[in-house]
Amino acid sequence: MSYVKYEQKDFVGIITIDREKSLNALNPEVLADLEAVVDAIDADKTRCVIVTGAGKKAFVAGADIGAMSTMGPAEGRAFSANGNDVFRKIEKLPMPVIAAINGYALGGGCELSLSCDIRIAADNAVFGQPEAGLGITPGFGGTQRLARTIGVGKAKEMIYTARNIKADDAYRVGLVNAVYPLDQLMDEAMKMAQRIAGNAPIAVRQCKKAINMGLQMDIDTAASFEPEMFAACCGTQDQHNAMTAFCEKRKHDPFIN
Ligand code: CAA
Repeated sequence: MSYVKYEQKDFVGIITIDREKSLNALNPEVLADLEAVVDAIDADKTRCVIVTGAGKKAFVAGADIGAMSTMGPAEGRAFSANGNDVFRKIEKLPMPVIAAINGYALGGGCELSLSCDIRIAADNAVFGQPEAGLGITPGFGGTQRLARTIGVGKAKEMIYTARNIKADDAYRVGLVNAVYPLDQLMDEAMKMAQRIAGNAPIAVRQCKKAINMGLQMDIDTAASFEPEMFAACCGTQDQHNAMTAFCEKRKHDPFIN
């Protein structure tokens, strides 16, 4: 039995963390199942991935507190490194990843959403990094990605106070791009994913690489890196067909071939 389900709908892959009775909390088994699913994604067939949680209450309510409660330093380091490795794999997937946040996204759940490219939330979503109240630091990337996503001041406030925020505040601070009624969340995620999947696949991947790698560079290095991403698109059939159609004032076929 796997705690993580995967479904392929045309060019879109849907990952569901499925441990509903524990609000999809991440223990070592769930992390292992998630890693196996991420490793198995067929990059040729998949142009966008959606990550969500099973049920109507939680995206992921964090790392499993019971599993962590007896950890000493060595076990804690290994658990944190494992979560970081798996989330980094998600971040480094070549295609965009959308987090569809259907409820609690606390601790490791907030961190999972931060490893995705885009976050959209249901109106029942709750975000937070409660770790300081539990005697630990965030361990799956929260101290790093939250500040990079919403800015240092807001991230420090959330992490030091361990106070949760609701979906509308998450939208206000730029943690999520949009908020929808819960029953519309997956349709909206799918619409966005299909829109992404309908664009030139090489170009979309080069955009992701350019943005993510460029953010780790100084602006001079980044500005000389972008032409490499641009060049990798030039000369492709996608570019040729799309630009020829524009020049000939024709509608271009979608990039589904
Ligand atoms: N770990 C383990 N089990 C969890 C869990 C977690 N993070 N979150 C929820 N559960 C379990 C509960 O123990 C409960 O199990 P039982 O039915 O067997 O008792 C079940 O899920 C349902 O939860 P509640 O009864 O608590 O549901 P609620 O509606 O009353 O409260 C909640 C929901 C506010 C999310 C509450 O469950 C909660 O506060 N959970 C913990 C959230 C948290 O602190 N997450 C951060 C963990 S630390 C971390 O993630 C570190 C890291 O970065 C690596």
